[in-house]
Formats: sequence, structure tokens, C-alpha cells
Amino acid sequence: MRQRVFSGARPTGRQHIGNYLGAIQNYVNLQEEYDCIYCIVDIHALTTLENTDRLQEDIYEMMLDWLAAGLDPQKSILFVQSHVPEVMELHTLLSMVTPLGWLLRVPTFKEKARMQPQNVNYGLVGYPVLMTADIVLYKAGVVPVGEDQLPHLELAREIVRRFNSIFGPTFPEPQPKLTSFPLVLGLNGTQKMGKTYNNYIELSATPEETLKLVMTAVTDPARRYRSDPGHPEVCNVFRLHHFFSSSRVDEIVAECRSAGIGCVDCKELLAKGINLELEAFRERRASFAARPQYVADVLSDGACRAQVIARETLAEVKEKMGLVQRPA
Ligand code: TRP
Repeated sequence: MRQRVFSGARPTGRQHIGNYLGAIQNYVNLQEEYDCIYCIVDIHALTTLENTDRLQEDIYEMMLDWLAAGLDPQKSILFVQSHVPEVMELHTLLSMVTPLGWLLRVPTFKEKARMQPQNVNYGLVGYPVLMTADIVLYKAGVVPVGEDQLPHLELAREIVRRFNSIFGPTFPEPQPKLTSFPLVLGLNGTQKMGKTYNNYIELSATPEETLKLVMTAVTDPARRYRSDPGHPEVCNVFRLHHFFSSSRVDEIVAECRSAGIGCVDCKELLAKGINLELEAFRERRASFAARPQYVADVLSDGACRAQVIARETLAEVKEKMGLVQRPA
């Protein structure tokens, strides 16, 4: 039997090349070796959203990117968290074996409490319990995540151990599977690429938009004149060349160091590399976008398949916790 993978991502709308290199490509590759379940976690999103006007659109746009990148509903279960409400029941049951002290110590909780002091809601404290419920509802053993999620997974394992020791072996201890990609920096070359810093290139941008954005990227600050030799090792544009111009990296290094090419040339090359790499993706995305009913069907089918597993686990959990079924 293949091992089961579960991962969740918040609905952040159109995905950017940081999401693509850091998470989506990894999700796509895992489909070959594992039974994968990928979930857009809209309930988690509610812990930090001020309003939900864009929520449905963000889910839809993100799904278009996932499908276009190669997440395949024939191979994996793709669904939206709230469409399988059993996860909220399991969340409540798991909360009974989760000491509050564990949750208050989680670094992401402290960070969010600091970022939104006007909205330190109860759901925010329970965030990692809901995340644990996501994973164990499907008895997943492998969880592809970025490094920032390791404390959450540690907590998930502690909750699982606690549950198993009180109620008997029920859930596997979920193991993180770190993505092999290093942090992708944004165009300004200082912060992580992301919506927070407005320093990203969307996968669905046109080739012209991509070129325009790449042209704003910060390069080696020591290279002030066209004739100055460059230092690729400190240049974020060069880092991106690794991903998008991999066959020409040696040549680009040499040309940069010898001032054979300038930063403008170099960025034009990068934009070309990105546009080439994403050409097929963008075509597929447009074809999915022309069939919104298909996307809806994928999500509906995914929720049905997920729910079959979810109901089975939940029945087992309730029985073990001594909750008898309601008489018919
Ligand atoms: N907390 C994760 C994040 O912010 C998203 C998430 C929710 C998740 N449930 C999950 C990730 C389950 C892995 C498994 O990125």
C-alpha cells in the first residue's frame, strides 16, 4: 500500500513563483509515489481574515494554478476544507486531549497575537489542533510543509501520542517532509517572496507583465556601472536563474563576472527563462479557466472522496472516546 500524504494551503488566490518552486512542484512530484490529499484550508483562513469578500475567488484562482501546474484529480484528492465538515468535529474532540499550555507556546500563535492584537480569537489558539485534525482525519503519515510549519507538526505528533495512549492506537504520527527548495526571495532580494511584501511574480502573469516585474528586481548593489564586474553569489536575480535558466547558469556567471552582460541583459534573460518555463502552464491555466464547471466538479468529487475516509475515521474516534451513536 502506498503511504498517504496530506498537505494544506491557505487560499491565497493567484499563486506566485515562490509558491510554485517552494510547494506546488513538490506536491506534483509526490503524486507519483504516494496517495496524496491536497486541501485548500478555508477555515484556517478565517482565523486571520478581516473580511471574506474575496474568499471564493481566491479558492478558485488557486485551484486553477494547482490544476495547471499538474495536480491531477485522477491521482490525488483535491478539495476545500470546509466541504468536509467532519474536520470540525474531530477538531473539537482532539481539543479535549490538548493542554492549553501547549497551544499558547506555539511560536506562530504568539506571532499572530502580536500582528493582530485586536483579534486574538479562540480559533487562532486552536489553529494547530485544526491542522492536526486535517492530517489525522485521513490518517496521513507524511506531510509536505515548509520549515515554518515544523512546530505545528511537532504539536500534531504530541496530540496524536496523547490520543493514542489514552484511547488506544488510532492515528499514525505524522512526519514532515521538507521541500528541497531553498527560500525563494522576492524581487527586492531581501524578504521572502509573498503577498505580504508585494514582491512577487504571479504564475499567471503575461510574458510582458513578467518582463516588467523582473526589470524592477534588485541586483548586486556593488555593480553601479555597466562596466563593473558583477557578483552573482550575492545577486537575487542570479538565484532565480538557477531555477529558470538552469542550462545556462555557467555562462551567465561568467558573463556577469566579466561584465560581458549588464544587469538589464541579465534580467531580460531571466524573464525569458521564466516565460519559457511557464508557457505550457499558462496555456493549461487558460483552458481550465474557460471551464469553471470542470473546476467545480473536481472540487465536488474531491470532497466526496475525502468524506468517505473522514466519516470512517470519525466513527472510530467517537467509538473509542465512548460517544455512542445516536439511536436511529
Ligand atoms: N498551517 C499551514 C500553513 O499555514 C496550512 C495547513 C493547514 C496545513 N492544515 C494543514 C499544512 C495540514 C499541512 C497539513 O501553511
